[in-house]
Amino acid sequence: MAIQDKIDLLIKKREEAALGGGEKRIASQHAKGKFTARERIDILLDEGSFEEFDMFVTHRSTNFDMDKQHFLGDGVVTGHGTIDGRVVYVYSQDFTVFGGSLSETFAEKICKVMDMAMKVGAPVIGINDSGGARIQEGVNSLAGYAEIFQRNIMASGVIPQISAIFGPCAGGAVYSPALTDVVIMSEESSYMFVTGPKVTKTVTGEDISVDDLGGADVHTSKSGVAHYKAENEEEGLMLIRKMMEYLPNNNMEDPIQTSCNDPLDRIDDVLNEIIPENPNQPYEMKDVIWSLADNNEFFEFQRHYAKNIITGFVKLNGNPTAVVANQPNYLAGVLDINASRKAARFVRFCDAFNIPILTLVDVPGFLPGSKQEHEGIITHGAKLMFAYGEATVPKVTVTLRKSYGGAHDVMSSKQLRGDVNYAWPTAEIAVMGPKGAVEVLEGRKMSKMTPEEAAKHAAKKEEEYKEQFANPYNAAKYGYIDDVIEPRNTRFRIVRAFRTLTNKKDMNPPKKHGNIPL
Ligand code: HXC
Repeated sequence: MAIQDKIDLLIKKREEAALGGGEKRIASQHAKGKFTARERIDILLDEGSFEEFDMFVTHRSTNFDMDKQHFLGDGVVTGHGTIDGRVVYVYSQDFTVFGGSLSETFAEKICKVMDMAMKVGAPVIGINDSGGARIQEGVNSLAGYAEIFQRNIMASGVIPQISAIFGPCAGGAVYSPALTDVVIMSEESSYMFVTGPKVTKTVTGEDISVDDLGGADVHTSKSGVAHYKAENEEEGLMLIRKMMEYLPNNNMEDPIQTSCNDPLDRIDDVLNEIIPENPNQPYEMKDVIWSLADNNEFFEFQRHYAKNIITGFVKLNGNPTAVVANQPNYLAGVLDINASRKAARFVRFCDAFNIPILTLVDVPGFLPGSKQEHEGIITHGAKLMFAYGEATVPKVTVTLRKSYGGAHDVMSSKQLRGDVNYAWPTAEIAVMGPKGAVEVLEGRKMSKMTPEEAAKHAAKKEEEYKEQFANPYNAAKYGYIDDVIEPRNTRFRIVRAFRTLTNKKDMNPPKKHGNIPL
């Protein structure tokens, strides 16, 4: 064959691979409002940066006449490219080839990019759109999944792993995304479940739609499986690019500092008045976060789930910083099971990737009641405590108002290795709120009074209790609070605290791993 013919053959093969399962199936993908695997990669990565691996791979199966059906690439597009100039590895499942189902070779392609990403120390982004295990390949497909799961586990905490769900994701296939750090679902076309509606109906009798069982709403607000829902695929891909701004390439590097044009000593008088006179009145914690952040930008994480605790990212002096904050505007900011789980995972995610943590506290305590107790609030609350106590990144805490009981200890207190702990003058740091305390301490006495007398007595005692305990100075007296600061100066104080902590070194004792109460 002449050289030119050989080059022409290469070009022809590349064109064939680019068509995936063919024009008809591409048209059907578009008709569903979905992009193809390659279009998604083009939107995600810097223009022209994508280099594809394994474009000529085909499956090896001969079952069910499979030897007569080959598509170059075998249903997944893999390779690397850049996001804002930083190298990332990518795989994008191609629904136009056997419904994006996973064969042995398909799995090998994904494993190859994951191995490369680990070698290079670069994030992996997986775009999922698949009918699951390729039925014709039987157990080889299951083995392929397990090869991927094992790599997800080894890469966890070493390189960031981000999953987009832009189509079906069912059966055991959901476990690879579940093992990654960030899961993004598109509202229009994605779902995730271990068992689909048909089997659910057969086994349990429950009649439920695909969306109600495992759509983006369900997983971002009810189950907490997914962290972001995007209106459409394009928005989902932009969210991944945004996420990358806050993450380092790997656990040996710090997130990237960008320039900051927002004055570090910017004073915000509004903060001096944000706490209501009435301690039972809520306020919007996000107003505080926006005020403190560079250019008032806050990239919230898991916004729709357990809204009583806020998690997300800001930049402070251009440095990516995690924020964990109780939300008085939702269930009074109480810590319940879901809030504890959400924040614990977030704290560990940030600690693994060297992202400093700012904690803003206004927490009335843990949510009481049999439902929470029976579902294990003890274990789940302990997760958050474990996560904070284990974290070695710089930790700055500001107590704005309530900080009561066990919840006080949990929320990055001094004794859980909080590095710098500030309080506003409005802080109330004590074993419990005035009402509860008076009931416990004066209950017996009050039971012998008339209701009017008891109410009067309680009001007097609550006032005494507030005077004595509902302030930051008791904690400051013991050094549990490093300083009581004027709210309007908070941005400057936390920026300076984090700057001081830049070279902080904290160690955990050598061990195989801890036994976090899962
Ligand atoms: C092989 C598959 C396939 C699969 C779809 N296709 N799923 N081929 N193995 N798992 C093929 C179809 O035959 C069809 O081929 C093409 O992909 C598109 O599928 P359609 O059904 O036409 O598309 P649609 O109507 O959009 O429905 C999509 C779907 C459905 C909901 C995903 O295809 C489906 O239910 N598939 C089976 C899902 C499943 O049960 N998978 C196994 C889960 S168990 P043609 O040639 O007609 O275009 C599992 C275990 C993993 O995954 C365990 C890991 C530990």
